[in-house]
Amino acid sequence: MKRVQTVAGVREQVAKWHRDGLRVAFVPTMGNLHDGHLALVDAAFRHAERVVVSIFVNPLQFGQGEDFDSYPRTLEEDSRALAARDASLLFAPAVEEMYPRPQSLQTRVEVPGISDILCGASRPGHFVGVATVVCKLFNMVQPDVALFGEKDYQQLMVIRLMVSDLALPVEIVGCPTVRESDGLAMSSRNGYMTANERRKAPQLHAMLEETRTAMQQGERDYAALEARATGVLASAGFNVDYFSIRQARDLSPPDDETRDFVILAAAKLGTPRLIDNIAFSLD
Ligand code: PAF
Repeated sequence: MKRVQTVAGVREQVAKWHRDGLRVAFVPTMGNLHDGHLALVDAAFRHAERVVVSIFVNPLQFGQGEDFDSYPRTLEEDSRALAARDASLLFAPAVEEMYPRPQSLQTRVEVPGISDILCGASRPGHFVGVATVVCKLFNMVQPDVALFGEKDYQQLMVIRLMVSDLALPVEIVGCPTVRESDGLAMSSRNGYMTANERRKAPQLHAMLEETRTAMQQGERDYAALEARATGVLASAGFNVDYFSIRQARDLSPPDDETRDFVILAAAKLGTPRLIDNIAFSLD
């Protein structure tokens, strides 16, 4: 597997593959790779002959007081895991390569509305940071297709809207959340938990499933379902940011006609902020 750090390096290689008639898939990550990321690499090979993975801990998407400085940086280990998965190229730019000008003066990409609710409400500026870096990465790598995990449901929606609004020539593919055997969604931040927190963590997913089951059995008092789940999680020691039943297509509140739902939750358990969701249809 090749490893490059410069925009010129990744462009040159991808241009060569395109000249050779090969399709190129792209998996953007912030590193500290787990099986969820590696499943994206495997899925990428079902869409293209070559797979580029980026590892870049993006300062622009971290708020003040968040974990940018302590975010786990495990480049050598990640590189070995990607090579074992036959990834074609690792693009690992330095902050200066991604943002040569002061970050405060950086041109930004904003997807209004969707970026300001749920995770966007508790992490102001987060999705501007995500949209900006993903747009830049697309321009740098120039992939045919890019793959993202559905665990970050809102992020995936922000990226789909950005690609559509800016007419970016990249196909976006969402891939199912990869879970531990007890249901906990895999995340690079799960390692922040103590053993006791780790034991409690699967309750977040269990509560999403319980709420879905109640809806499948006919319960339609969404506010009551949200309040119940929030209460149960709070009693278990979670600091719940939101537990919200939304329309799957645009994250707006459901109405009487809604058939396609997503239940999204974010909660702090000790240090890490866990997020998870379940999307389902009542049809
Ligand atoms: O999901 C992530 O890991 C990041 O938000 C992404 C998409 C790589 C952008 O930095």
